[in-house]
Order: sequence, then structure tokens, then C-alpha cells
Amino acid sequence: MHRIDSVVAQCADSHLQHNLIAACRAALTGGSILRTFFSQPHTISMKGATDLQTEADLASEAAILAALSEDSPGISILAEESSASAAFTFDDPIWVVDPLDGTTNFAHGFPHFAVSIALVDQGVPQIGVIYLPCSDELFCSWKGGGAWLNGENIQVTEAEFLIEALIGTGFPYDTHTHLQEIILQIETLLPKVRDLRRAGAAAVDLAYVACGRLDGFYERELKPWDTAAGWLLVEEAGGITSDYSGEPYNLGTQEIAAANPVLLKKLLPLLT
Ligand code: IPD
Ligand code: CA
Ligand code: CA
Repeated sequence: MHRIDSVVAQCADSHLQHNLIAACRAALTGGSILRTFFSQPHTISMKGATDLQTEADLASEAAILAALSEDSPGISILAEESSASAAFTFDDPIWVVDPLDGTTNFAHGFPHFAVSIALVDQGVPQIGVIYLPCSDELFCSWKGGGAWLNGENIQVTEAEFLIEALIGTGFPYDTHTHLQEIILQIETLLPKVRDLRRAGAAAVDLAYVACGRLDGFYERELKPWDTAAGWLLVEEAGGITSDYSGEPYNLGTQEIAAANPVLLKKLLPLLT
């Protein structure tokens, strides 16, 4: 945790600071489990026709939940594998956890996946932490506190023109339902941007926008555990998020688009 000591020290609200440390510890714990399981054969079960669950999703989630419950008792938890179908609201503080974002990558030995943990209060993320075990990169942010990668402050890019922009996207598991829209967006965007990326982990895509590796990102049908931490990271890094019509993003929104304000304005008309 040394890498974030100086960052955490800047968080003046002691309650938030305590929970920021808890989120980082839990993310590193889950990430270390993912790293261990990554090189071993996987036990895979299917949640849908193409939606996988591995032993590592479950093991990472169990360890994260144990760590959060120990460090932050009393805060409820929404976690993808154990509470996705439970009723939940964002009225009170709640941890929102994706124990392995990028399961398909993980299962195929493609080293691009992450743990994503956010603390959300009244629908607004207060803390966002994303940890990439393969590159050992810890992204963290808290409301009003900036965005950080391994202790270094990060910013979205200042790209103003789509033709100079590298844009990330993703495809929902029920691709067939949205195939026409996806194809149309690619058809429209590809000639107008520098290139598109579909790397396979939405939380990482958002973290990459926050640190400038991507200039922008868009995807539909993401869940709160995919976006909550990355949403805060992007906004704390100087970017903005919205739905495809430009309305501010919230955890109930079906679509998310993210970039610096100038670029987002140019990206949005091409998505609808
Ligand atoms: C998925 C990844 C993927 C995105 C999917 C998500 P999971 O999360 O973020 O990039 O396109 O829509 O569901 O299932 O690997 O946690
Ligand atoms: Ca996910
Ligand atoms: Ca997941």
C-alpha cells in the first residue's frame, strides 16, 4: 500500500480516508487472487450463452467481501456474483463490487482484466478503485480528491478532434439485441476517429480514459459494478460522462459515454 500512502494522506475527511484505504486493500486482495488463478486451469460455468463465471470470479469476490466487511462493517455491499439479482437501492452508502471485470479475457488467458470497487452514496460514487493485477496498476479516486494511478495524479487527454482520438467501446453479452446499433456506430465512427478498441473490460476502459490511454469510451447495457468506480475516476481526472443523448450519467442509465468535455460533444452525435 506504500504506493498510495501520500495520496491517501491528502484525503482530509477521515471517514472517507478510512474507506479509501479499505477499498484499496480489498482491491489488492482480490487482484492477488486473480493473479494466482490466472496461470492455472479454470473451472467455467455459464451465466448466459456467452457470459462466463470462473472460480476466480467467486474467490476474488469472497475475499473482497470479507476484507470490506472487516474494515468497513455496517456498509451494505452490492457485488456482481452474489447479489446481482438482489433488490438494492443507492439511497444509503453501499459498496459496489466487480470482483473480476473482463472474465472472458481472463478465461482465455488474455491479460487484461481488473477488480473494480466503488463506494456509492445517494447514487453518487464517493470512492472509486480499480486494480489491474497483471500490470500491478492501482487506480484510485475520491470525490473532490482527483484521480491517481499508483500514487501519480492522472488526467484525461486534451484531444479536441475525433480524428486524433483513440476511442474504446464494448459489446453487451446479448449482442444480438443491439447488433444493428453496434454496427451502425462502428460504421459511423471508424472513418472519423484514429482508431477504435474493444479490449474487453469496461472498468479498465474507463480507467484508461482517466489516465489518457484512451481519449474516450462508450458502451451500453453496463451494470453499476462495471461503471461506478470508473465513472468517478474519469470525472476526477477532468473528464465527463453522459448517456448518448448528453444527459449526465447515473447508475440507472443504459448507456455511458466518457471523454474530455470538448471531445464528448463531438462523439455523442455519432452514437445516436
Ligand atoms: C464485462 C466487461 C466487458 C463489457 C461487458 C461487461 P464482466 O464485464 O466489462 O468489457 O463489454 O458488457 O459485462 O462480465 O467481465 O465482469
Ligand atoms: Ca464487469
Ligand atoms: Ca465481473
